[in-house]
Amino acid sequence: MNKKNFLGAVCMAVAFAAVTTACGDGTTRSTGWEFSRNMYDPIAYNPDQPNNNFKNKQTAQTPPAGTLPQGFEKFGEEYANTPEDYERAGRELTNPLPVNEKNLAEGEHLYLVNCAVCHGKEGKGDGSITKDRTVTDSRGTRQLENFPNPPAYTRSSGANSSRGGLMADLTAGKIYHTIYYGLNAMGSHASQLNPEERWKVVMYDSRITKEII
Ligand code: HEC
Repeated sequence: MNKKNFLGAVCMAVAFAAVTTACGDGTTRSTGWEFSRNMYDPIAYNPDQPNNNFKNKQTAQTPPAGTLPQGFEKFGEEYANTPEDYERAGRELTNPLPVNEKNLAEGEHLYLVNCAVCHGKEGKGDGSITKDRTVTDSRGTRQLENFPNPPAYTRSSGANSSRGGLMADLTAGKIYHTIYYGLNAMGSHASQLNPEERWKVVMYDSRITKEII
């Protein structure tokens, strides 16, 4: 046996032994060899572990009253999905982001990704989902159902919101409320867009109404 074959045979033997001995024999509850003990017993405290460093002996402490978790947003607590709170959001909220090229460019991108499929690239309510489309798969080629056209945002279209008033007059807070909760056939987009992204889309939407895109 030359050196290479010998080494190969040793490796095979070790691998075979590892495979056969690592598994239990079906009668004991032994986990076999533990080769990275600190993955089982982490040095840090687990949140549900008793902890003598605190008076109440718990690791996870109740946050002080009035604190908010990182990235948490109070909108859902402060404004309910009701017509009254939609109106109130429209009166009370203004876009907290400064209007600049960067925010508008990001708003445009997010709008094209999340909204244009229904509302259309220019907000005319003519997104691709509202047009005739076919799908071809193993069952052949079929016509897909057309989604009803959302009302156009643009001022020149003069379209009304189903909640009253011109679409082009929707205030920032009303658009934000709509993104957060959705409206009838439009689903909520709260999970697709974080608060900052929503305000960027709102900023872009208000450009569409003025037809300056
Ligand atoms: C699945 C298609 C669809 C998508 C995607 C969609 N919308 Fe809508 N949207 C609609 C429809 C339909 C309406 C009209 C609902 C009604 O009045 O019954 C609407 C209405 C609106 C309104 C008017 C609300 C009002 O008070 O009348 C706004 C603002 C709006 N959408 C913004 C957005 C934004 C911003 C996005 C992307 C984040 C988006 N929509 C994504 C279908 C969609």
